[in-house]
Amino acid sequence: MEMEKLVSLCKRRGFLFQSSEIYGGLNGFWDYGPLGVELKRNVKEAWWRDMVTTHDELTAPIGAPSPFEMVGLDTAIIMHPQIWKCSGHYDLFSDMMVDCRETKHRYRYDQILGRWAEAKGRRVFVTTVAEDELAEITRRALKLFHLRSKNADQLQWQSDLTSLEKVDDLSQVLAPAAKEIGTLTEPREFNLMLETYPGPVKDEKNRAFLRPETAQGIFVNYKNVLDSTRVKIPFGIAQIGKSFRNEITPRNFTFRSREFEQMEVEFFCHPDTSRQWYEYWRDRRMKWYTDLGLSSARLQLRDHDPDELSHYSTGTADVEYAFPFLPEGEFGELEGIAHRGDFDLRSHMEGKLDPNSSPLTVELGDDGKPKYRGSGKDLTYRDEQTGRRFLPHAIEPSSGADRATLAFLCEAYREDSAPDEKGKMQTRTVMRLHPRLAPIKAAVFPLVKKDGMPEVARDIYRAMKGRFAAFYDEKGAVGRRYRRQDEAGTPFCVTVDGQTLTDQTVTVRDRDSLEQWRVKIDDVVEEIEKKVS
Ligand code: GAP
Repeated sequence: MEMEKLVSLCKRRGFLFQSSEIYGGLNGFWDYGPLGVELKRNVKEAWWRDMVTTHDELTAPIGAPSPFEMVGLDTAIIMHPQIWKCSGHYDLFSDMMVDCRETKHRYRYDQILGRWAEAKGRRVFVTTVAEDELAEITRRALKLFHLRSKNADQLQWQSDLTSLEKVDDLSQVLAPAAKEIGTLTEPREFNLMLETYPGPVKDEKNRAFLRPETAQGIFVNYKNVLDSTRVKIPFGIAQIGKSFRNEITPRNFTFRSREFEQMEVEFFCHPDTSRQWYEYWRDRRMKWYTDLGLSSARLQLRDHDPDELSHYSTGTADVEYAFPFLPEGEFGELEGIAHRGDFDLRSHMEGKLDPNSSPLTVELGDDGKPKYRGSGKDLTYRDEQTGRRFLPHAIEPSSGADRATLAFLCEAYREDSAPDEKGKMQTRTVMRLHPRLAPIKAAVFPLVKKDGMPEVARDIYRAMKGRFAAFYDEKGAVGRRYRRQDEAGTPFCVTVDGQTLTDQTVTVRDRDSLEQWRVKIDDVVEEIEKKVS
């Protein structure tokens, strides 16, 4: 599937729009249209129901070491700045970036690719950030050396595609989009947290941050949850909410945005069983995506190599999906499941831990005092049976609502053929969304706008509306109405026709199989409700 086709359908049918489009758009921000908002709500609802609403705390799910409790939380986006100091985001949440002095563009250092090219006695590292790297680099190199395509053989390539990070001397680099050579600054760290200034005075003392993850809101409320409910370890706290990151190069539709939504759980357990819980969550989360329709062939669970892990973590795995905008064989992260040990609770208790120390100790500033003080609150947990206190370990399944929605959209997009009204096969675009995720569950059509058909169809529509998302359409040829619903991902269409008036039955059409069958008016709402819930 070509990504452009999906992007175009998303705009045409109202799934996704570029934010602030009438003013030319704002890079890294997206708006969900009438169909998109329902789809994303269904994704979040499916996650919340699975994690919180329908969780049975009396029974151990398959693969879980024991039964456990799950509760929810909704914390503020802007929190005390000290939280980000103790979590490590203030010092460590950064990407290396380079600026171009000529074009004023800023790039992520690790995302610039290039090749060494030589012609006319000069050697230059020609770069790009475009997706068709090799073609773009060749085009730029020919232009730089004033060569026509027919003289391309005068150009000598001296390396394969290489990351800019491997180049020592930036004075020999042609930056992406630049005309001159040597316009890139030396790489420097760029913190990804977006700043804001609550209150009337805009000074350093009042500087705060838009949260870059929802997780810290959970850690700093862990004690409140323990004190206000009767949860006991092991238990999880779930949260869905907006997060913000000042990504240097937002790209690939909503995949890397500056404003996005996360669906995160911090699961607190005893350190002795934490490894088992980590494995449980890793497998359970993978299954959630396949249950909702992602194909196993395009999904993978990738364990991080030991050298990718923070040393306080004994495991991290990513659920990855083969997004169509990635090169063949490459996967993009949908969710990370991390074993975070007691790093976060201990940092918020004692002061920021030094992630490079082993065993973990509080990081000290130049004056020998803790670099960032913790809350000083006792965040230990008292085991009622043994009376012993300990700091729980946290297992964190952390997913992105926008990335999951994008993966479901990519998976759903199909072009196949279906017969039109005259029985002639025509190409159709169909979004094969899982019925639980589909924005509209059923559309109701009168075949024609006469003979009492609209009245019957409206009654069916009203009966559906009270129970699930339905749509009424009486405009245009029925074949065209089917096509519109196929593109919206509506799993069922119900048509009231001449026969309805004589035998009180309607036609139900299945979006995927195109099968049609007749159902009694009195049963149709219930039958569809069963299929979509
Ligand atoms: N609390 C852990 C954490 O935030 P992460 O891997 O940085 O971990 C978790 O983010 C998930 O959030 C990712 O797997 C992804 O689905 C989503 N996410 C992260 N950055 C994103 C971005 N810039 N745009 C859209 N989704 C993003």
